[in-house]
Amino acid sequence: MDAFPFILLLCSFSFLQIIKCRVNTITTTQYIKDGDTIVSSDGTFELGFFSPGDTSTNRYVGIWYKKTSVTTPVWVANRLVPLTDKSGVLKVIETGVVVLVNVTNATVWSTNSSRVSVQNPVAQLLDTGNFVVRDANDPNPENFLWQSFDYPSDTLLAGMKLGTDLATGLERYLTSWRSNDDPAPGDYSYHCDPTGYPQNLMRKGPNVTFRAGPWNGIRWSGAPNMVNNSIISFGMVMDSREIYYEYEMVNKSVISTFVVKPYGKAMRVIWIGKVQGWVNYHSADADDCDTYKLCGAYGTCNMLSDPFCQCLDKFEPKHPDDWKRSDWSSGCVRRHPLNCTGDGFLMYSGVKLPDTRNSWFNETMKLDECKEFCLRNCSCTGYANLDIRNGGSGCLLWIGEMVDIRQLSASGQDIYIRMSASDIGSAGSKGKKTIILAIALPLLVALILLGLGVSLILYKQKRREDPVIEITGKLGGHRNNNDNSNQSRHEDFELPVFDLLTLTNATDNFSFANKIGEGGFGQVYKGVLEGGREVAVKRLSETSEQGLHEFKNEVNCIAKLQHRNLVKLLGCCIQGEEKMLLYEYLPNKSLELYIFDEERSKLLDWPKRFNIINGIARGLMYLHQDSRLRIIHRDLKASNVLLDTEMNPKISDFGMARSFRGDETGANTRRVVGTYGYMSPEYAVEGIFSVKSDVFSFGVLVLEIVSGKKNRRFVHPDHHLNLLGHAWMRHNEGRTLELVDPNLVDSCNISEVLRSVHVGLLCVQQNPEDRPSMSTVIMMLSNEGILPTAKHPGFFTERKVEDVDQFSWSTQAPSSINEVTITLLNAR
Ligand SMILES: *[C@@H]1O[C@H](CO)[C@@H](O)[C@H](O)[C@H]1NC(C)=O
Ligand SMILES: *[C@@H]1O[C@H](CO)[C@@H](O)[C@H](O)[C@H]1NC(C)=O
Ligand SMILES: *[C@@H]1O[C@H](CO)[C@@H](O)[C@H](O)[C@H]1NC(C)=O
Ligand SMILES: *[C@@H]1O[C@H](CO)[C@@H](O)[C@H](O)[C@H]1NC(C)=O
Ligand SMILES: *[C@@H]1O[C@H](CO)[C@@H](O)[C@H](O)[C@H]1NC(C)=O
Ligand SMILES: *[C@@H]1O[C@H](CO)[C@@H](O)[C@H](O)[C@H]1NC(C)=O
Ligand SMILES: *[C@@H]1O[C@H](CO)[C@@H](O)[C@H](O)[C@H]1NC(C)=O
Ligand SMILES: *[C@@H]1O[C@H](CO)[C@@H](O)[C@H](O)[C@H]1NC(C)=O
Ligand SMILES: *[C@@H]1O[C@H](CO)[C@@H](O)[C@H](O)[C@H]1NC(C)=O
Repeated sequence: MDAFPFILLLCSFSFLQIIKCRVNTITTTQYIKDGDTIVSSDGTFELGFFSPGDTSTNRYVGIWYKKTSVTTPVWVANRLVPLTDKSGVLKVIETGVVVLVNVTNATVWSTNSSRVSVQNPVAQLLDTGNFVVRDANDPNPENFLWQSFDYPSDTLLAGMKLGTDLATGLERYLTSWRSNDDPAPGDYSYHCDPTGYPQNLMRKGPNVTFRAGPWNGIRWSGAPNMVNNSIISFGMVMDSREIYYEYEMVNKSVISTFVVKPYGKAMRVIWIGKVQGWVNYHSADADDCDTYKLCGAYGTCNMLSDPFCQCLDKFEPKHPDDWKRSDWSSGCVRRHPLNCTGDGFLMYSGVKLPDTRNSWFNETMKLDECKEFCLRNCSCTGYANLDIRNGGSGCLLWIGEMVDIRQLSASGQDIYIRMSASDIGSAGSKGKKTIILAIALPLLVALILLGLGVSLILYKQKRREDPVIEITGKLGGHRNNNDNSNQSRHEDFELPVFDLLTLTNATDNFSFANKIGEGGFGQVYKGVLEGGREVAVKRLSETSEQGLHEFKNEVNCIAKLQHRNLVKLLGCCIQGEEKMLLYEYLPNKSLELYIFDEERSKLLDWPKRFNIINGIARGLMYLHQDSRLRIIHRDLKASNVLLDTEMNPKISDFGMARSFRGDETGANTRRVVGTYGYMSPEYAVEGIFSVKSDVFSFGVLVLEIVSGKKNRRFVHPDHHLNLLGHAWMRHNEGRTLELVDPNLVDSCNISEVLRSVHVGLLCVQQNPEDRPSMSTVIMMLSNEGILPTAKHPGFFTERKVEDVDQFSWSTQAPSSINEVTITLLNAR
């Protein structure tokens, strides 16, 4: 007899339970057929049949969150053996295994168990999302015959163990899907690797591509920002039976997972109800310096240095010629080779500890014992504290070369590296020598930089070009993306190409009357194509260093970036020296025309402004992380945010910075493109840009949107602070609401306003590492959790003279700059 209806019948007659009735268990007399599901008793997880992605019609058994509007399987049973029709049936059989059978009753997939005698086997979906088989007669409900948590797919759920059971040898690790449409195991896997001292690793096939760094008692050495917080808490368990990593949600009603994407990124995502999507909260590998072994042995990677890779102090490139060509893989060597007996150690601070697969550790040794131990063994190359809590404890020592080191400044750790006596001598004796060095070294470095600067920069530019350009998914795993990962990477030019004559006619010969704007990369004209379609034509002002082919590729890529908060690129024109881009025309023009205008600002009430803030954040996040092409805007400002007829924001000029990557205009100068008032300190002063420079500009924009005041033009009778400094002061005094644009008083939602200002201030913090990523910003804006304290903003210092440039550093800055993008020649 078909047992499932029987259960349903039972339910509908049990009046007390009629509403709550959910089935989370099946017995040997019941089964789940395609279309049926079982739901965990708290209603969080659901198990049933699904088809992955958009195009696949294959059927799989999986588990997903019931409450998310996008079905995102967190576990898949028959990953390798899909059913091709809806005839599948999942049932428990007497031997205590769950089987999936197809129309011919042939077993397609099954669980296994080592137990021979089982009296009353049942399969149950637990509230944790664990699908388990157990004996209902067993008094211990935790005594599982089999559990899905032992066989993870691409997703780590709270309470799942990532690691190895030393007794049974079972290793639980994540494997990516092959593609969004195919849950079969793909190339990438994420492990808690127990070799040497345990660390989390991403592998592509057998090769390591990313390493989180060893566990230091609080966090992974290479992920300084990922610590226990208001969302998740986590830890490592290491004992004689098991070695694993595990996390828990602090607030159990927050939906969040850790997932390995088909293209090899591991990230923590959070379901955000307001945007009905999964938002990236933290990417395991955040930037280029997280590429495994990028700088070779004893090389250290620093996102803020140029080039990224440098040799550790007292080391020199093993193959200087390769190094100059930006091929850093051969790494660095000591100037004087080690001589087992007379060696000592040099301390290097603020680093991500090197790969520990070839290491040895002892949890109780003190640091000086550790040093002695290392010194006694000639193959030991260095040591560090194992645990950084309580001033440090334990001993971690390395055997052989040290690889995959990066600089993390304040949040990094100390490591002691074995050096020959002659290398230590030159730095070890403090006093005169140090002083001489302090003067001589920078001079030397400056000289070398002057000499090599040009060629290095040229080489670096070559190296940084991304070889792979693919566009994947939209915000948070919505299924309607067009990720055809296997597409040819050298497609033809797909964007409509217009000829110069057409555009000349459309814009009335680029007449002044048609000019609607001016940006860092050229002038913008309104144009009307034949047929009446209105477009915005950007006439690029200078030729970049790029060749035509690269430019086409670049534009093609930008054309594929599609997001509702980005202006749509419609076509281009390349003729002779002229390069032009056609965008959709937005009649409401830019945000700048609204927020800073007495009358028009009344048209933007708080709900609209909050929507604009969130929209810009989503557009920027898409540029930074969701598209595989990492784009740094470099010139985000109110006039680059356009508004559509519903006042939805659309970021313009994105991707241009990338096309104009050919930074050099001459011998030893480099162009800094940006706008005063929006540029982060490290970018304006040193020309160093990263996604965090965009975050800074975003923060400025948020404060401008809330206050209706321009950062650059801000004047206050009581002090000489700019808008950032003023906002920070008021925020710290608990008088944030005094900042708010008077036009918003009637419409504002106080908690949203306070939150926006707080997030804005977090974004403009002086230190780029302190600024949140855009995905964190989105999360911070949309939930009620506690926000970290904002440290002081960059560029808030007092103005000495009214109306002279507000930045105390820029005495040489021309004071006549207006709001158009400026190009600052920065001597190098
Ligand atoms: C499959 O098995 C069920 C019960 O074991 C049986 O009733 C049914 O006839 C079988 N179907 C086929 C096609 O063998
Ligand atoms: C059922 O599964 C068996 C074993 O995997 C396979 O050989 C058979 O072709 C499948 N039948 C159908 C109709 O899918
Ligand atoms: C169960 O199957 C997995 C592979 O699917 C295998 O690695 C494991 O050893 C099996 N366990 C038992 C108890 O047979
Ligand atoms: C692993 O690295 C080797 C050597 O660099 C390379 O030949 C191989 O293709 C890599 N494997 C994968 C799966 O990337
Ligand atoms: C993080 O939270 C977990 C669980 O609450 C706790 O066991 C662990 O000690 C915490 N870690 C730190 C470094 O505080
Ligand atoms: C947990 O999160 C939910 C939804 O985000 C929220 O409504 C609730 O207030 C939170 N609870 C606590 C204790 O923070
Ligand atoms: C190693 O150092 C010792 C003492 O400093 C010295 O006597 C010896 O010659 C050195 N050996 C080598 C191979 O440099
Ligand atoms: C760790 O070091 C302590 C003290 O030196 C020693 O007693 C202990 O045996 C060591 N443990 C291991 C596993 O080597
Ligand atoms: C040095 O340490 C390594 C790794 O622990 C060990 O294999 C080797 O035997 C040691 N050598 C000596 C001389 O103690």
